[in-house]
Parts: sequence; structure tokens; C-alpha cells
Amino acid sequence: MSNDIRAVCVIGWPVEHSRSPLIHNFWIGQHAIAGEYRREAVSPEEFPAFVKELALRGYAGANVTIPHKEVAMTLSVPDDRAEAVGAANTLWFEGDTLRSTNTDVEGFLANLDQMAPGWDRGLDGAIVLGAGGAARAIVFGLLSRGVKTIRVANRTFTRAQSLRDRFGDKVKPVAWDEVGGLLAGAGLLVNTTSLGMNGQPALDLRLEDLPKSAVVADIVYSPLVTPLLKEAKDLGLRRADGLGMLLHQAVRGFSLWFGVTPEVTPELRAMVEADLVKPKPE
Ligand code: ATR
Repeated sequence: MSNDIRAVCVIGWPVEHSRSPLIHNFWIGQHAIAGEYRREAVSPEEFPAFVKELALRGYAGANVTIPHKEVAMTLSVPDDRAEAVGAANTLWFEGDTLRSTNTDVEGFLANLDQMAPGWDRGLDGAIVLGAGGAARAIVFGLLSRGVKTIRVANRTFTRAQSLRDRFGDKVKPVAWDEVGGLLAGAGLLVNTTSLGMNGQPALDLRLEDLPKSAVVADIVYSPLVTPLLKEAKDLGLRRADGLGMLLHQAVRGFSLWFGVTPEVTPELRAMVEADLVKPKPE
């Protein structure tokens, strides 16, 4: 490997589906950086050793995806954000120290800022569907913007309760089948579950009761327009899609590794969109 090339990778298991190489290599080209962003398929058993040897392997940093985000945090020095969320998706070196952060938080917020400016002004109540790692990042982000009440609904109620235990009483766990009755009081509805993803059933939820000023966000980006976002569009509601969050969450990693803050442009979005709709070989 040439020493003048700055290499970064995304580590996952599996990792073929990751669009991060597309995004980062687009920015590397745009900024004429001597860099390369690769995929590394690493099993859970091999992951700790791989991370310990990251610099030896010639990497200046990495993204971490499923199923490694929780373990990544324990192998590095997390920032406050990764610690609060309990998961890290971005690794970088500060001197010899391997640091980690969670860029889903700002990815979610920056996407809403771009797609629905002013979304958080006077926002009293939000509903978050799901209680996994993505939900933790989003709840943390919403609290940081001063949202007063965040109702978390999850198929497995105890996981919703554990978000309240982690983040405090502004988080209210609610039963999965109560959500329909709570829509009228919500200024923001966020889906963090896998429902609506290609190959999965759609969410069973009608949105008519949401206030006309409400914003609907989905973290699913395949399909680009989930059934939830389609219904929100038909009702004339403002929306923030999963692809936008994916693009925005990549910004900080790039700037940590390469020292340039890249932009989420329509051109970048169009390039990733084209890849998402491309038929995949079996
Ligand atoms: P991530 O880290 O991406 O958030 P995760 O931790 O696997 O992923 O969380 C997936 C979320 O989708 C969970 O909230 C999960 O609900 P459970 O906690 O009950 O498993 C939710 N989810 C997945 N499939 C679902 C389904 N068919 N119906 C309802 N919720 C579902």
C-alpha cells in the first residue's frame, strides 16, 4: 500500500450493501485528495483484533456498521455523544489514541435542518418508532434540540423503557398499538424500525391525525420513498428521508480523516440515488 494515500474503510459483517464507499470516494475525487475508502468484511470474532491493528493495516480511520457499533465503542475512547448513545459508527486517531463518535446524531439533525428548516421551533412532542441503536442516536439528538417530550413506541416495550432509563423522564415509553391515538399531539414522527424497508412489511399506521405542521422522518432509504413517506407526501406534510440522513452522517467522518468538511449536494444525492435504484446482481 502506498504511504502517500490516506486510506479509510467501512467495517461491517456483511458490508457489501454499504453505500459509504460511494459517498466518501465521491468527496475524495471532488476535493482531489490522495485518499481511498474501502470496504472490509470483518466477522464479530475478528473485529477486536482488526480494530487494534487499524493503524498497522494502514488505516487513518474507519466507519463501523452492523453488527459492530456497540463493540467499537469499547475498543476506543468515545466522545460524549457515542457514550450517551452507547454505540459508535466513526473511528479516528488523535495522535496514537483511537477515538470514536456517533455521527447518526448530527446526520439526523442536519438532514431535518435541510429538509424541514425550523422543524424544532417550539416542538413540544415527538414520536419515535423503534428502540434500537438508531433510536438512541435520534432521541439523544432530539433532547439536544430541546424537544420537551419524546414518546418512544416499540414492538418490545421493555426496550422502549430502557431508552427512558438511559435518557430520563422526557422520554415516555408507549405501547406499540397506542401510537395512532397519539399522533394528533405530535409535531414530529420518526420511524427508526426496519418496517417499510424493501422486503419488509410497511408500518401499519395512518397519518391523517398528525397536525398539518408535523414533519415525518424515516431512516429507511431503500426504497427511497417508503410507504410512510409516500403517505406523508400525499397529506402535504414535510418530510426528511433516510438517504438524507445517510449523506449527512458521513460529513463529520470525512472531515476528521481528511481535514476537509464536504458538502451534501444534489449531485452527490443523485449519484447515490442512482445506485440505490440500480438492479442488484443475485
Ligand atoms: P438499529 O440499531 O438499526 O436501530 P435494531 O437495534 O435491530 O437496529 O432495532 C430495530 C428496530 O426495529 C427495533 O426497534 C425493532 O423492534 P424490537 O425491539 O421489538 O425488535 C424494530 N422492528 C424490527 N422489525 C419489526 C417489526 N416487524 N415490527 C415492529 N418493529 C420491528
